[in-house]
Amino acid sequence: MVSIFINGYGNIGRRLASALSADKEIKFVGIAKYTADNKTQEALEKRFDVYVPLEQIRHFKERNYRIAGTIKDAIAESDIVIDAAKEGGGFENKKRLYEPMKKPAIFQGGEDRHGDRSVADIIHNSRVNYEKTADKTYVIQGSCNVSGIGRVMQPLIEKFGNEIKRYDLTLIRRSADLEDSKQVNDSIEWDKNPHHQDDVKDFIPSANLYVDAYKVPSRMMHVHQMLVRFNGKSPSRDRILEAFHNEFGIALLSSAKGTADVRTKALQLGFEHGDTNMVHIHQELLRVQDDTVKIAYSDDQTGMVIPENYLLLQSMIFKRSKTEAIRKANHLFQISKKKKILEEEFN
Ligand SMILES: NC(=O)c1ccc[n+]([C@@H]2O[C@H](COP(=O)([O-])OP(=O)(O)OC[C@H]3O[C@@H](n4cnc5c(N)ncnc54)[C@H](OP(=O)(O)O)[C@@H]3O)[C@@H](O)[C@H]2O)c1
Repeated sequence: MVSIFINGYGNIGRRLASALSADKEIKFVGIAKYTADNKTQEALEKRFDVYVPLEQIRHFKERNYRIAGTIKDAIAESDIVIDAAKEGGGFENKKRLYEPMKKPAIFQGGEDRHGDRSVADIIHNSRVNYEKTADKTYVIQGSCNVSGIGRVMQPLIEKFGNEIKRYDLTLIRRSADLEDSKQVNDSIEWDKNPHHQDDVKDFIPSANLYVDAYKVPSRMMHVHQMLVRFNGKSPSRDRILEAFHNEFGIALLSSAKGTADVRTKALQLGFEHGDTNMVHIHQELLRVQDDTVKIAYSDDQTGMVIPENYLLLQSMIFKRSKTEAIRKANHLFQISKKKKILEEEFN
């Protein structure tokens, strides 16, 4: 059995805990809490062991929360840590805990790939570089946007290759997640230097890609508008769609009116945490004109990276082939079934 600890219990950590605790091959050590708030109670009700920093134990005890030990205890017991700290927090964890304790770790997309605070020398995207992560000790799982971009670009690259001249991508990002208590600002905010462009080039170095990113006052998923420019006349709409029909984690929808439709449907259908775990290409928005194809898709920000982290574990720890890893992820997350249901609901 492989022992795994999740360091953090925010939007991503909670979802990872639900998924990993359901896998019989994994000895799920538990989760870390840093603040003695109600989310601790939620974790305990889900029967997760809760580990906290030594200096915080008394705050948890004052509130009668049952604590399994310190975060260091949990890491010592684990074969690998999945770090789910707030953006940037993984770097300190690596320096203070994982490196001194000689533990491999997976980091999330809010961590730096380059510069003084870099945590790993590779960003994982299961559709592109699954095999390259097998011998790594530290890997960043690309963010939700970056994971979605790889999932859409790679099938196009495999089908059309050198026919494609460049990609121009506008990310319309949600400001907060459904579970976040913070208010969303009534403003459209721009990003002077979106990290997504360099992140994607980390695993698709040949891509002639330009990315702009805006945040809008919504909690309901991201929308990406991708313009794909071809060297000559662009392929037909049908040939473009063919590239995605059998893709793992891509649903082809035709009648959603917006991101809230898709998220609300996922919640109504009882998908765990309200996640679809995929991107949804909105076929009615697909346009072909001269040398350009416009593809618009929504990206399940919170759910997208959970199967990705799971696939990454299959590579780093279980050394499975990609086919076998996808089979397991499909079983655990019911991706094909969810895709079929969503395609029927929004046909
Ligand atoms: N939210 C998304 O849609 C999304 C999607 C893809 C990737 N990501 C990435 O995933 C990471 C986590 O995002 P999130 O949305 O889950 O953040 P979040 O909801 O703000 O949760 C962050 C968690 O970090 C915990 N924490 C505090 N100090 C910590 C430490 N030293 N080490 C580990 N954990 C610590 C907090 O614990 P307490 O609550 O106990 O204080 C909190 O539970 C970020 O890198 C983010 O960029 C997020």
